[in-house]
Amino acid sequence: MPVRLKINGKDISADVDTRTTLLDLLRERLQLTGSKKGCDHGQCGACTVLVNGRRINSCLSLAVVHDGEEITTIEGLANGEQLHPMQAAFVEHDGFQCGYCTPGQICSAVACVKEGHAKSDDEIREWMSGNLCRCGAYPNIVDAIKDAVAKNA
Ligand code: FES
Ligand code: FES
Repeated sequence: MPVRLKINGKDISADVDTRTTLLDLLRERLQLTGSKKGCDHGQCGACTVLVNGRRINSCLSLAVVHDGEEITTIEGLANGEQLHPMQAAFVEHDGFQCGYCTPGQICSAVACVKEGHAKSDDEIREWMSGNLCRCGAYPNIVDAIKDAVAKNA
């Protein structure tokens, strides 16, 4: 089926097998490999992207379902050379180790703040609990998100 999407501000048209997930379309067809495939089962959050500003696990969502929608991936957050404030906060607070979960963490964190779910450490932990980090960078991730909130990210 044909599908038209706006991805990181660019209009994209593609013919896809109806079984293609949004994650596979991004990674395998469009070479947007920032979004990671951790589990492919909706359990780790490494594939988190924003659809019309709302965070989803792109491994669990079929590309054709998103016809006409706006997708933002980690590649679309920065403004040219200038990092998104959430990206800068992750760098400043060392919110990662291997970095595999990081694109999903950052996309999720941007939405978490917009949702108003970042008012305390406990709230951030609860609302970021869909994003697993096998390196255990959680304390620094929470610090990064709090800092981004303080700076109105
Ligand atoms: S790869 Fe999508 S939730 Fe793990
Ligand atoms: S930084 Fe390695 S999995 Fe999170």
